[in-house]
Amino acid sequence: MTAALAIQDYALMEDADCEARIEAAREKLGERLVILGHHYQRDEVFRHADLTGDSLKLSREAAQSKAEYIVFCGVHFMAEVADILSRPEQISILPDLAAGCSMADMANLPKVEQCWNELSRVIDVENQVTPVTYINSAADLKSFCGRHGGIVCTSSNAARILEWSFGQREKVLFFPDQHLGRNTGYEMGIPLDEMVVWQAGKPLGGLTAEQIRKARIILWEGFCSVHQMFRPEHIDRFLERYPETKVISHPECSFEVCRKSHYLGSTETILKTVRAAEPGTRWLVGTELNLVNRLRQEMKPKGVEVHFMSPMVCMCSTMFRTDPQHLAWVLENLAEGQVVNRIQVPEKEAGEARLALDRMLAQG
Ligand code: 13P
Ligand code: SF4
Repeated sequence: MTAALAIQDYALMEDADCEARIEAAREKLGERLVILGHHYQRDEVFRHADLTGDSLKLSREAAQSKAEYIVFCGVHFMAEVADILSRPEQISILPDLAAGCSMADMANLPKVEQCWNELSRVIDVENQVTPVTYINSAADLKSFCGRHGGIVCTSSNAARILEWSFGQREKVLFFPDQHLGRNTGYEMGIPLDEMVVWQAGKPLGGLTAEQIRKARIILWEGFCSVHQMFRPEHIDRFLERYPETKVISHPECSFEVCRKSHYLGSTETILKTVRAAEPGTRWLVGTELNLVNRLRQEMKPKGVEVHFMSPMVCMCSTMFRTDPQHLAWVLENLAEGQVVNRIQVPEKEAGEARLALDRMLAQG
């Protein structure tokens, strides 16, 4: 077997050269390859995806795929989910290993286990608490949920998953995104004072025993650095100018932004909703810029105006890491029989994580 092609040889390549090489490698690999692309990918990468979607749709695609190689143009936790849900002989690849998710990194297993142990001093965690991890989390946190009777959720099924979780036990420990947990809980009718924030590092998470006993949802203190840039005043200012505007936001946005939005939804739901809009309507969208720019271009000829919610540029810098150079590099290696940047979750961890993911997928 020849040595793997080096990324350094691709780093200075023009995008146009990479495009041609990506196409040639795809042709050579045929049905042995599937490229999955998240909606936040940049245009030069997104156009090469065989299948696109939000986290839930892409995890289903990964589970159903027959391809030998699943190249995930997204972030690390997505390629981990693809590895966990695919068959053992399938190979999941992340074109740039530095493409993580800063929100996912805000929770880790030692801190969550410490939280669980501290909570157990106040309540009977195993019988009273269902741990729920947002899919934006490392595989070992999904396996934590698997072994403690918990579950995974995404931004498109969070309400259904919380219903299931409350059907199991009276309380939920929700990590890492406090906003998705709070926004979903509130829409389900849970009052704000029954959703408390656990601050890792503080004794009892900075809460009193009474607050913990009363809480329905214990929220981790994580957030998305992209979605926290959208502010309620951005909506107010826009509505002053164009009062007829419909506002749609991702539920990772703050509580205040979500309260001022007419619709909330995952990236796939945002796309579906705006694509179904009447001509002549105007939309203010609170999610990542690459998605919004593509949607704006797509809807313009249909007479639907799409605007980005923030006056600042909010892009996901880790989603942006996947570029045509890295994609060309992994595909040309595959075409030469070399696997680079494989994401492989250790078997025991994968088994328990699969339990939590399968519980989620079983909810429809
Ligand atoms: P979706 O599942 O809505 O695509 O969200 C993924 C994500 O990372 C949003 O920040
Ligand atoms: Fe993570 Fe936020 Fe980027 Fe989504 S947009 S991948 S939550 S950092």
